Amino acid sequence: MAQFELLARCHTTRARVSRLTLAHGITMLPTFMPVATQAAIKGLTPQQVESLGVTLILNNTYHLNLRPGTKVLSEAGGAHKFQGWNRNLLTDSGGFQLVSLSKFTTITEEGALFASPFTGEPTMLTPEESIAIQHAIGGDIIMQLDDVVSSLTPDRARVEEAMERTVRWLDRCIAHHDLSGKKDTQNLFAIVQGGLDLELRDRCLMQMVERKDKVAGFAIGGLSGGEEKDIFWRIISQCTQKLPEDRPRYSMGIGFAEDLLVCVALGVDMADCVFPTRTARFGIALTFQGPVNLRLAKYAKDFGPIDPNCPCPTCAEGTSRAMLNHVITRETSAAQAVTIHNITFQAQLMGGARDAILNGTFPNYLRTFFANYFGDVG
Ligand code: GUN
Ligand code: ZN
Repeated sequence: MAQFELLARCHTTRARVSRLTLAHGITMLPTFMPVATQAAIKGLTPQQVESLGVTLILNNTYHLNLRPGTKVLSEAGGAHKFQGWNRNLLTDSGGFQLVSLSKFTTITEEGALFASPFTGEPTMLTPEESIAIQHAIGGDIIMQLDDVVSSLTPDRARVEEAMERTVRWLDRCIAHHDLSGKKDTQNLFAIVQGGLDLELRDRCLMQMVERKDKVAGFAIGGLSGGEEKDIFWRIISQCTQKLPEDRPRYSMGIGFAEDLLVCVALGVDMADCVFPTRTARFGIALTFQGPVNLRLAKYAKDFGPIDPNCPCPTCAEGTSRAMLNHVITRETSAAQAVTIHNITFQAQLMGGARDAILNGTFPNYLRTFFANYFGDVG
């Protein structure tokens, strides 16, 4: 089972630092998890990712089940061995991808029915099957199958149904996981749903917290973009207030620097998003002075690094903004260089937050970050 130790708290916010020990080592929280949807961070080797200080990445059950499939993964000895990743791994359950990728998914009480993108054949993903696939993948943290509806859905009855079904599916995931013999190495997280409705979130929280002894952690789902900040923060705040102190909290699909720090201040420990790595491939480098669009003509003669204070290999080796401007979106090496930088930026952002919480200077860290990030530079 996961070991979760609280090490420090901020006195004026709900931010905390903790140590999460899983089967593939220690991950210090709060942390940001880069997304390796297809068992690879696009453009990087696992050794490169590890060398940047990353200790926990995310894979997607939905994608790995389609390709290479559980048979190949089992034969390889699990997804860690298959992709050559020796540190911690979290797998998402597949429900969110079904809804976000397929217009042809039908949710029933039994599970999610969808047309296979390869064969067109109707395929059913049940909570039990999602857990079984995640057992074959072998992630250190596995997620329950949840019924996800867009946070922008106006249909309250549908949001309520999805929330209640997510609780029932949690029970089925717990039952399947309990019988598996995988409980020593794989840790199941519940996912709080309920849309943007505080009352529905409350009912979900109450029911899930009752199952606290059966899960290793809690995620906050259904919030991956497009919401007004005001309600987004209110939902996160309500969830972290009611979730147990002695379990990690994971906000799913959150990756903008400003959102990450607000979530940390509200007591979130983990987050993931494709944003930093995807935006890198489009030529956007993240810096503490705000994002830099390397494609802009004004960088064609900018011979400095992306960020002179950045410790990443791209900046340290002196790769210039001008060079990146010249090759970005044309040479894969440029996508790789900016991806390395952006993963380092996210790690610095969260590592800086951890240090500040430990030193008692987190409020000042927040003030400095927001003044610089939204200041008038670049
Ligand atoms: N990724 C982003 N949001 C969600 C969510 O609500 N559920 C799951 N399973 N994955 C997500
Ligand atoms: Zn850098």
